Amino acid sequence: MSRMIVPHTTPLSEPAPERARTVRKAVVPAAGLGTRFLPATKATPKEMLPVVDKPAIQYVVEEAAAAGLDDVLMITGRHKRAIEDHFDHAFELEQALAAKGDTVRLDAVRDPARLADIHHIRQGDPLGLGHAVLCARHHVGDQPFAVLLGDDLIDPRETLLSRMLDVRDRYEGSVVALMEVPPEQIHLYGCAAVEPSRPGEDGVVRVTGLVEKPSREDAPSRYAVIGRYVLDPAVFGVLDRTPPGRGGEIQLTDALRELAADGTVHGVVFDGLRYDTGDRADYLRTVVRLACDRADLGPEFVAWLKQFVAGLEATGARRDRFAA
Ligand code: G1P
Repeated sequence: MSRMIVPHTTPLSEPAPERARTVRKAVVPAAGLGTRFLPATKATPKEMLPVVDKPAIQYVVEEAAAAGLDDVLMITGRHKRAIEDHFDHAFELEQALAAKGDTVRLDAVRDPARLADIHHIRQGDPLGLGHAVLCARHHVGDQPFAVLLGDDLIDPRETLLSRMLDVRDRYEGSVVALMEVPPEQIHLYGCAAVEPSRPGEDGVVRVTGLVEKPSREDAPSRYAVIGRYVLDPAVFGVLDRTPPGRGGEIQLTDALRELAADGTVHGVVFDGLRYDTGDRADYLRTVVRLACDRADLGPEFVAWLKQFVAGLEATGARRDRFAA
């Protein structure tokens, strides 16, 4: 997808001067029911579904850690014990692997707990993403913080979150990640109305309005909010009085719209690799793609995949029969 080129139509003013990064905490909402993956998610949280050999949520925590965030708060719900266990020590397993001298697997087992200082709280009633973020208020305090949604997996080689933290440091306020999507997909996302940033920084826009999951006709742009946010703590006061919106849920998008009206929300335009692991077909694509990239699995897997695809093409007629 192409990066947006924004014309300079607004007066220029200086962004805030460089300062030490103030964001240390990340919030990861993980209380969703995962209905799109039933029955796999009947007794297993959707965030724990493996992407190659790591649960999807580990990639998200690794992304936060790679951007320098060393405190991660998971907002969980009932049936999410597996997430707590994954980011904890597993003494018996560690002892057994140590006794065998299997240091590679021992590291793999220990890594999740070493990524960051990880905390968990429960959302209680699933009242929406805005409510989940509000549950983090006490833990976060009066500091800006990042929010990473588990269904959006950003390729580990991308630096989106670091760019967003830089933008927060320079402009203050809140920052959302935006991606251009085809018009027929905009109803799946929060959608942003934007204007050029001051002073017209490439890939950074000012958000003037936000609407949650608009119809194609009502969408103010093709810029979808993808699941990465850097939020000013002012969002808590707004969320506190945000009434239920779309779907009867308290929407983060609605609270951000109010902040955007004050001119304090920026968008970082992302055109890199993002996977929606909440969607079954995209989940499968993610697993295949990341497996192909792996040094230990890739070469053998790619060779098999090529043969498999060639076989599919050769038996196209048979495939059509399955589809019928
Ligand atoms: C949530 C947000 C939406 C955002 C999306 C990104 O929606 O409410 O604004 O665009 O995440 O993935 P959900 O996908 O949880 O319905």
